[in-house]
Amino acid sequence: SFIGLDLGTSSLKAILIDADQNMLGEHSVPLTVQRPHDGWSEQDPASWAEAAHEALQALAATCDLAELRGIGLSGHMHGATLLDENGTVLRPCMLWNDTRAAVEAADMDADPQFRAITGNIVFPGFTAPKVEWVRRHAPDIFDRIAKVLLPKDYLRYVLTGTYQADMSDAAGTAWLDTAAREWSDSLLSACHLTRDQMPDLVEGASPSAPLLGSIAQKLGVSDVIVAGGAGDNAAAAIGTGVVREGEAFVSLGTSGVLFAANDAYRPDPATAVHTFCHAVPETWHQMGVILAAADALEWLSRLTGQSAAALVSDLGDLKAPSKTLFLPYLGGERTPHNDAQMRGQFLHLRHATDAQAAARAVLEGVSFAFADCQEALVDTGTTIQSALVLGGGSKSDHWVRMLATTLGIPLQVPHAGDFGAALGVARLGMMAATGAGTEVATPPPIKCTIDPEPALSNAFADAHRRYQDAYKTLKDL
Ligand code: XUL
Repeated sequence: SFIGLDLGTSSLKAILIDADQNMLGEHSVPLTVQRPHDGWSEQDPASWAEAAHEALQALAATCDLAELRGIGLSGHMHGATLLDENGTVLRPCMLWNDTRAAVEAADMDADPQFRAITGNIVFPGFTAPKVEWVRRHAPDIFDRIAKVLLPKDYLRYVLTGTYQADMSDAAGTAWLDTAAREWSDSLLSACHLTRDQMPDLVEGASPSAPLLGSIAQKLGVSDVIVAGGAGDNAAAAIGTGVVREGEAFVSLGTSGVLFAANDAYRPDPATAVHTFCHAVPETWHQMGVILAAADALEWLSRLTGQSAAALVSDLGDLKAPSKTLFLPYLGGERTPHNDAQMRGQFLHLRHATDAQAAARAVLEGVSFAFADCQEALVDTGTTIQSALVLGGGSKSDHWVRMLATTLGIPLQVPHAGDFGAALGVARLGMMAATGAGTEVATPPPIKCTIDPEPALSNAFADAHRRYQDAYKTLKDL
């Protein structure tokens, strides 16, 4: 059997599958995000390690792990986990949606070698500018950095005692030569760092290291290999069979992602589309990323005191958008704006705007942000004909129908929308332990396909244009 551990922003999930990919068990542990200042977003790596131990123990208590052969790791990308020479964490991890390093990112992005070598804009949320922020604002910590690890690679360190990263996650640091799948010494030295401070690189489906004996003993297992694993988006793609050109998914998680698999390395940084290594050798992918998808609804839920599920439960049939507009840029935006300063907006509020009307506007605003990602992908030459829809938000049929109508493509809803990334890395664990190939990355059983509502397409297209105009009008205010 094989375990997939997915370190999400709001929870860590662990699943256990057998050799036929039947789900044998699962356990989730909630996690919190600390936002001590506007634009900051942090987690304590110790909370990940505790959650991982708890999840593994829970699986051991409820399932038979005697046949466990492989573990795969996935996690939220780009976080800067800084360790000293003893492997001690130096400060809280700055997460993917932390935009404090905007100045540092812009300075790096102005050096043409970053886009040329990585294939991407240096976004503030990427790892390199955050480490540069530490150099400028906490030099005493910077001087003590012995290793910089991505979040799921910190879990690998906890589970195996080794420092390694996989290609898909490493591509989100701004230090990887994305075509060569190798650290770039020239980018590292531009950041006052060396290759020694980087983990070793391994492909996602290759073995990285065995599980530590002490942990294996506690779980009652032996001969367990930990696979390279993947960043959560590449992992979700492996979990949902999105590996060949033209295959795509939309993820309505804390972040929002419009992901397309590519048959070649096709960077186009000017569009603010991300181009990263995929989790299997010789493959790459593109994605548009928005910082607040389900997170925008979570924000409204905190504001109104109603659960996110309650806010969207009574929306009824899909209607043409009202004039109330929501721009979901609560912590800035990546695709297509690369704008760390912009913040969320509610426009055209009326006496009649109640919590439900506000929720509708939030779902519409996030859908328009996805439409912007779709336009950016089209600008790179990537057109998507249909997509799977994943993540917590995909539980709302209303939202999925709205998104299908905004994007003008059918969306397939899998039976288990939440387990894409965990299943993906359980599969990578299987590949690493058994030598299986991408044939195990099959598409999930589909619960239903939700088509666009043709009668409403024009209304959504018009509202999307108003949304785009609103950003242009407001961004410099
Ligand atoms: C991708 C990104 C997010 C995180 C969240 O570039 O930043 O999707 O991986 O989990």
